[in-house]
Amino acid sequence: MKIILLGPPGAGKGTQAELLAERYGIPTISTGNMIRAEVREGTPLGQKTKQYIDEGQLVPDEIIMAIVESRLAKPDCEGGFILDGIPRTIPQAQALDEMDLGDYVVLNISVADEEILNRLGGRRVCGKCGATYHVTFNPPKTEGVCNTCGDALIIRPDDAKETIQKRLEVYHAQTEPLVSYYEKAGKLINILSEGSVEETTAAIQTALEVK
Ligand code: AP5
Repeated sequence: MKIILLGPPGAGKGTQAELLAERYGIPTISTGNMIRAEVREGTPLGQKTKQYIDEGQLVPDEIIMAIVESRLAKPDCEGGFILDGIPRTIPQAQALDEMDLGDYVVLNISVADEEILNRLGGRRVCGKCGATYHVTFNPPKTEGVCNTCGDALIIRPDDAKETIQKRLEVYHAQTEPLVSYYEKAGKLINILSEGSVEETTAAIQTALEVK
């Protein structure tokens, strides 16, 4: 099973990726989580990419593709993988196609911009393992504490209202064209995520079973 998760910021890609990874026993490759870990550790890559994330801009394609290519070469990806947050531009999609991934599907999770503000406004993430929660829609068992690793939950710095707005603009300008790119390639499955996390998961399951 090879899945690309497409969708605007806050659509629920990370949330659904965690559930799909558990169900299919395959790893999630989240470029956002990988870059945030580099920033936290203060590595040269983290220093190079921090400003892009903080400003809600995309990290340059060549940096992203180098990270993704070396991650996909690891043995745990042999049985499949979930790409969460990659590709974000047409050149990234073309670079992936040149890697010859084999058969894959693209789940395009769509949500209205107003709902995205609600979702990202209440998002909390684990500073250690990256697990995602929402104060109302998907709360942790204990307030402020990660169910998985017990670490403290934080608000992502790029979830500030003005940065969300910037990320949405970047999404519409640079990432949304991928919907027709994958539609033309016959890879696209549209998932409307207006309901709960569970309802979205059910819609994805149904779509994958039909496929
Ligand atoms: P990244 O980390 O990929 O962020 P994003 O795409 O903006 O997506 P998010 O993580 O914000 O949202 P999500 O769709 O995963 O939603 P979530 O599941 O958390 O990228 C961050 C930055 O890294 C980029 O801005 C860029 O700088 C850089 N970057 C990363 N990849 C790159 C690339 N390929 N190229 C260039 N730059 C790159 O859900 C959101 C909230 O809603 C949560 O609180 C959740 O609990 C809740 N929720 C989820 N589903 C539902 C539901 N159905 N109903 C109610 N609430 C829900």
